[in-house]
Amino acid sequence: MRIISAPSELVETISFFKKNTRTIGFVPTMGALHKGHLALVSASMAQNDITIVSIFVNPLQFNNATDLEQYPRVFEDDIKKLEKLSVDVVFSPTVDGFYPIKPAVSINFGDLSKRLEGEFRKGHFEGVGVVVSKLLHLVSPDRAYFGLKDFQQFILIRTLCEDLNFQTQIIGVETVREESGLAMSSRNRRLTKKGQEDATIIFRELKCIGEGLENGESLDMLLEVAKKNYADSDSFQLEYLEAVDPSNLKPIDDYLGLDELAVCVAGYVEGVRLIDNLYLRLK
Ligand code: PAF
Repeated sequence: MRIISAPSELVETISFFKKNTRTIGFVPTMGALHKGHLALVSASMAQNDITIVSIFVNPLQFNNATDLEQYPRVFEDDIKKLEKLSVDVVFSPTVDGFYPIKPAVSINFGDLSKRLEGEFRKGHFEGVGVVVSKLLHLVSPDRAYFGLKDFQQFILIRTLCEDLNFQTQIIGVETVREESGLAMSSRNRRLTKKGQEDATIIFRELKCIGEGLENGESLDMLLEVAKKNYADSDSFQLEYLEAVDPSNLKPIDDYLGLDELAVCVAGYVEGVRLIDNLYLRLK
């Protein structure tokens, strides 16, 4: 497994792979890898000749300096996990190497980034748009893999690539969960054991909404019940719970006539911000 930190060396390596007409799969990450990331890597390895993983904690997407500082960094551990899977290349640039000057350009996703995460993390998606665009230009992969836990991010990146004709297929991979239902996240490392148990309420309520919808119950009422249960919990502070149309991320209260629906949630346990969602195909 080759570890590359210079963008120019990455480009040279990629052009060698391309000359040999190999398909390239790409998994962008910010490190602190867990089974969710490894599922992305496995999907890439199954569908491509070469798999490249990037590890880069992108400062542009943090609107909170403490959050950036506290983001877990466990490079040696990550490398061991990727070596075990026989990944071909790890791209791990320094901040100065990746951004020799602060980009003047930022990506505006219009209405798609105004709600949900975009409302509570100002500037976050603009920074994600820049880093993903730069990474996709450097790697020019055939396919790139993103976790569906970050549902809004996935929709935005897919839109970015469609709107701007990136020649990369964007693939969403199912959220990997602990047995308790808690969605795997690098942030879970910052929770105590009790915090991890407390955080199981997040998905429990989403599941109840899904089951209620299957039984034909009203979406509005199901959202109200879930909000009340979240509010009654001492350990979870809800930031938002919203049902949206995945095609435009607009909020909905009536799902009749829709093909699909996503219920997205964010909140805090022990001061750690966690997100999750439930995606339902209705037809
Ligand atoms: O989902 C993440 O880990 C990050 O937002 C990404 C896509 C690697 C960009 O920094």
